[in-house]
Amino acid sequence: MSDFRKFFPIFKQNPNIVYLDSGASAQKPDCVIKAMSEFYENTYSNIHRGLYAFSEKSSQIYDDVREKVAKFIGAKDSLEIIFTKGTTDSINLLASSIGRLLNKYDEIIVSEVEHHSNLLPWKNLEEVIGVKVKYLPVLDNKELDYDWLYKNISGKTKLVCVTGQSNVLGVKTDIKKIVEIAHNVGAKVLVDGAQLTVHSKVDVSDFDIDFYAFSGHKIYGPTGIGILYGKKDLLNKLPPYQFGGDMVESVSLDKVIFKSVPLRFEAGTPPIAEVVGLGSAIDFLQNIGMEKIEEKSLNLTRYLQSELLKIEGVKLLSHNNSNSIVSFVIDEISPFDIGLLLGQKGVCVRVGKHCAEPLHQRFGVDSSIRVSLGLYNDESDVDKFIDALKKILSMLR
Ligand SMILES: Cc1ncc(COP(=O)(O)O)c(C=O)c1O
Repeated sequence: MSDFRKFFPIFKQNPNIVYLDSGASAQKPDCVIKAMSEFYENTYSNIHRGLYAFSEKSSQIYDDVREKVAKFIGAKDSLEIIFTKGTTDSINLLASSIGRLLNKYDEIIVSEVEHHSNLLPWKNLEEVIGVKVKYLPVLDNKELDYDWLYKNISGKTKLVCVTGQSNVLGVKTDIKKIVEIAHNVGAKVLVDGAQLTVHSKVDVSDFDIDFYAFSGHKIYGPTGIGILYGKKDLLNKLPPYQFGGDMVESVSLDKVIFKSVPLRFEAGTPPIAEVVGLGSAIDFLQNIGMEKIEEKSLNLTRYLQSELLKIEGVKLLSHNNSNSIVSFVIDEISPFDIGLLLGQKGVCVRVGKHCAEPLHQRFGVDSSIRVSLGLYNDESDVDKFIDALKKILSMLR
């Protein structure tokens, strides 16, 4: 059994469940659940508003987590960390805000492998303000076509939007290369870290990333909380995108002065307990160590992939060196039939297009089965999945 399974109460209640859908959302360790419930039981109040002890303590905890997130991803300053609802919210924030500074002569480059969260906000800008969106292709070997980027980026390109790790192919993007090519022409880079952050050490300063987005719920934290990192000088140039309480210095009917970053991007009461949970999830990951997490994840992914490839008719959609994600199709058998039957056997995987429809079109498949691993998984989960899959195939074939 994985050494880490004991930290996850859901498996105490459901010992036979084989959970292989962490790419969609990870289960929660007891420390995260406890941190949130203790916060509600002992400390809770709104933040940055009250002059009483609960509010001061809640505000302090909230601000401390901002520091913790900054250190976790290598940001130079906690003011570069904006709390959002998740990756989707972070990218929409950036698109809405930066969209006000762009025009129809500008270009944005988005890769062909993106999750819809990092595609549709940019396509929407194309429709609304006429900015041109160009698509960075993925090669047959499942890697991005960096040569295409060299050739097609220009002074007109304002932003390059790429995932740090595809949620279908499972392969990491060469972020340093993308940043180098983009910065050469003065373009900025947004990295979607929804899948990357949970398995790999991320250092936004070392990678020189301009904007970085991720979700709490995929790193063993709660739902409803995410992060948008942005370099301070860039965030300072962006207009706010939502308006309301706690984001203004002063308001009169004639004049509004917004707070500086990050608070001017956090209008309204934020998800306070979720921020507490996120802080605890980061502690959980850091206590284990990101290097150890990555090594465990890579080893188990290779085992999963090799066991899967022993089954006749299996075709991988994921990259050969994917991390934590293995997606595949099986000749002539509907992924939905397989997913449903696996679910009936207590094996949780995801089937469909995984919110990456253009990627599926690119590789000529309608939908796929995705197995994604978390810290609580080990070889015995893979064996149970393979065994269940073989039984289902002998029934369907
Ligand atoms: C690569 C990638 N980007 C973005 C998202 C969206 O994340 P969220 O639904 O937490 O906003 C996901 C979620 O699966 C993802 O895998």
